[in-house]
Amino acid sequence: MSSDTLVLRRPDDWHVHLRDGAMLAAVLPHTARQFARAIVMPNLAPPVTTTAAARAYRERILSALPPGADFQPLMTAYLTDDSDPADLEAGFRAGVFTACKLYPANATTNSAHGVTSIARITRVLETLQRIGMPLLIHGEATAAEIDVYDREAVFIESTLAPLVAAFPHLPVVLEHITSAEAVDFVGATGPRLAATITPHHLEINRTDMFAGGIRPHLYCLPIAKRERHRQALRRAAVSGNPKFFLGTDSAPHTIGAKESDCGCAGIFNAPFALEVYARVFDEEGALDKLEGFASEFGPRFYGLPVNEGRVQLRRSETLVPESVVAGDAVLRPFRSGQTLPWRFEGSV
Ligand code: DOR
Ligand code: ZN
Repeated sequence: MSSDTLVLRRPDDWHVHLRDGAMLAAVLPHTARQFARAIVMPNLAPPVTTTAAARAYRERILSALPPGADFQPLMTAYLTDDSDPADLEAGFRAGVFTACKLYPANATTNSAHGVTSIARITRVLETLQRIGMPLLIHGEATAAEIDVYDREAVFIESTLAPLVAAFPHLPVVLEHITSAEAVDFVGATGPRLAATITPHHLEINRTDMFAGGIRPHLYCLPIAKRERHRQALRRAAVSGNPKFFLGTDSAPHTIGAKESDCGCAGIFNAPFALEVYARVFDEEGALDKLEGFASEFGPRFYGLPVNEGRVQLRRSETLVPESVVAGDAVLRPFRSGQTLPWRFEGSV
């Protein structure tokens, strides 16, 4: 393999928003082109809270796949104060659910039905720990008085640390980490705690959101932090530590919903996710660490087999289009208008 081509075991996306209906049809081909499997977020309206709802959503995803696509959606259950542990266990044992997702109530898009306090889901957590079903966490404290840039660090101290201490055998993924505090906490905690890292949090800091004016397409939650945090995330991603693995958090909203008086949080990075990760690892002199991060550590954490196929990236300029149009949806992809130094060439 020359240094201008990069062949990887087929990667997976351990955190993605595929939405539903016309938006699902528009965005799914982009994820299915780059990834073999994806952990699908359940924050639809209404949220995917039961095995029956997840089964139906999985069918809609499979029906929306382009002909010939080889892609497996891994479903998650949206936890509420009223989640039924017996249904979650049944869904997990039946292979419908891969994990549960904990949104603190009102932390982000479609999280109004989320969990109001960890004490409300004690029985659920006991069940998850007993059956080894992973708990995926949007790790932000939500009290209005907490500064938006501090919400992840406050959550770790006030909620996550006591939770992992109380449930030491529960597999937990702190999703889309954005801070040095998260890197340090995950690194220092036992092997049952891991974290996903997005392409955008490896590339942007909070100042980039205001470069020359407000940049709504760079707004997501948890919000991008100071440069020193971005550097900590980059070190974690390329470290070869299997606790840190790929999750794009691709979260499409229409251009109209982003460029608005009250714009939605979310960055649509699915079309060029691997190209951006490759640029980051290349810049860090760590292309040899990309395969572990993208294709090995996630399956290892989830107890799933790695993918057998291989994909190739080539060092070749790739222009990211200004917009991606499909059906009624017009979306602005992450890095639109930019030229990326890598091109995803698909399976080899
Ligand atoms: O930026 C985000 N967008 N963060 C989330 O947690 C949710 C997501 C979405 O669903 O749009
Ligand atoms: Zn997300």
